[in-house]
Amino acid sequence: MSSSDAPKKLWGGRFTGAVDPLMDAFNASIHFDKRMYAADLVGSMAYSKALAKNNIITEEERDTLVNGLQQVMDEWQGNKFVIKPGDEDIHTANERRLGEIIGPLAGKLHTGRSRNDQVATDMRLWLRDEASAILAHLKELIAVTVARAEKEIDALLPGYTHLQRAQPIRWSHFLLSYAWLWHADAERLEQLIERLNVLPLGSGALAGHAFNIDREFLAKELGFRGIINNSLYAVSDRDFVAEFLFWASLTMVHISRIAEDLIIYSSSEFGFVKLADAYSTGSSLMPQKKNPDSLELLRGKSGRVFGGMSGFMMSYKGIPSTYNKDLQEDKEPMFDAADTLSGSLQITAGVLSTMQIFPERMRGALSADMLATDLAEYLVRKGVPFRETHHISGAAVKMAEDRGTSLDTLTVEDLKTLHPSFADDVANVWSYETSIDNRTAPGGTSKPAVLDQIKKLQAWLAQGKKL
Ligand SMILES: *[C@@H]1O[C@H](CO)[C@@H](O)[C@H](O)[C@H]1NC(C)=O
Ligand SMILES: *[C@@H]1O[C@H](CO)[C@@H](O)[C@H](O)[C@H]1NC(C)=O
Ligand SMILES: *[C@@H]1O[C@H](CO)[C@@H](O)[C@H](O)[C@H]1NC(C)=O
Repeated sequence: MSSSDAPKKLWGGRFTGAVDPLMDAFNASIHFDKRMYAADLVGSMAYSKALAKNNIITEEERDTLVNGLQQVMDEWQGNKFVIKPGDEDIHTANERRLGEIIGPLAGKLHTGRSRNDQVATDMRLWLRDEASAILAHLKELIAVTVARAEKEIDALLPGYTHLQRAQPIRWSHFLLSYAWLWHADAERLEQLIERLNVLPLGSGALAGHAFNIDREFLAKELGFRGIINNSLYAVSDRDFVAEFLFWASLTMVHISRIAEDLIIYSSSEFGFVKLADAYSTGSSLMPQKKNPDSLELLRGKSGRVFGGMSGFMMSYKGIPSTYNKDLQEDKEPMFDAADTLSGSLQITAGVLSTMQIFPERMRGALSADMLATDLAEYLVRKGVPFRETHHISGAAVKMAEDRGTSLDTLTVEDLKTLHPSFADDVANVWSYETSIDNRTAPGGTSKPAVLDQIKKLQAWLAQGKKL
């Protein structure tokens, strides 16, 4: 047809034929959902068994299906699986290949099943495994942190609030503050795995299964703790993805915060820590520089994971009941968060286990004014109400400041002008060790309280190993 006699569509463009190749590409998920090939095949093997159990297929047919599926699995694992045009997702690709291997019987596999309940099952299986691997990395990170805290228990440094020197603390106490955050992250992840470990399969496209498949059997075969009790819910629920993305975001926030602390501590101004060469790089221009790239990357990646969560939440809200194609947007952020967390946890453990600390620099950053609270507490021990002692100690700080000297150089006579209860034993206040070891209540920075934290975390880690 010449252009003159071709019908002219105002909206013409590509939208003329039955198929738009761009739409095919836009629609396809195989390039990312192929990661779930194993979950997809394992789900289909269990499904074949359930079909035979309900006499929808014979036992012989079941065995042929299972063996065929195993062959497809071997091809994936041996890097021999060839994705063909038309394989728009992992389910279609696996079933297409199964058909090539075992013939038309492959067509019976999908009886009563929909890709809607299939994909929801695949994702739960995949995330269950992946989250367990991530949990192991997280526990390794905690173990590294605790070991370091135990070894370096005698290092003292300023504790900061508002990034201003506040009170002396143990370096171990600082490290353990992150170990406890990660401990909470580990608990949350364990609970999340427990919650997501329920079966959607056997829900059909949305309305339920027409051949009364044994869903309890399916759950048992696939290691789920139970079944999802509503088929509409089963095919549309992605709360487990949202929860995982939130979990990942929060864990990355914790990693980002320790990264920020260590970036500050590794600066020349602080000089408390030095990163191993493996986790830092030089500048291409300035020969003297050693940049904490690993920590900056970790801090940066927290934004990426949070972005994945917020993006998915926006796709997830406002979709009507049951399966809608919007849900295809659930996989990439889930995969990306899993990869980022897996890498970040291992890099953080690497940084923490190899960096060097400089206890003299840490100690050198302590100053007598950080004992002002201890000075107030000294008077409390002499029976003066704390509100009053706070003012008196403040007046002592001002007196030292006005004279341009350090708080601990004020004489007993100087102090007596502020309150008569000051006596010679005030000299005992000017010890960072005493200040630190005064904080004996559980959770404090005294040596016994820190050792107790270490013991608790070690016991928790050991218990996890037995499981
Ligand atoms: C889009 O993909 C689905 C499978 O997820 C398939 O059923 C459908 O035919 C595809 N549509 C187009 C226009 O390619
Ligand atoms: C399904 O119902 C059972 C029995 O009440 C319950 O124990 C189980 O938690 C429910 N499953 C889910 C995923 O909510
Ligand atoms: C706290 O420090 C004071 C000295 O400032 C000392 O007298 C007291 O015994 C200490 N208390 C504890 C529990 O270490």
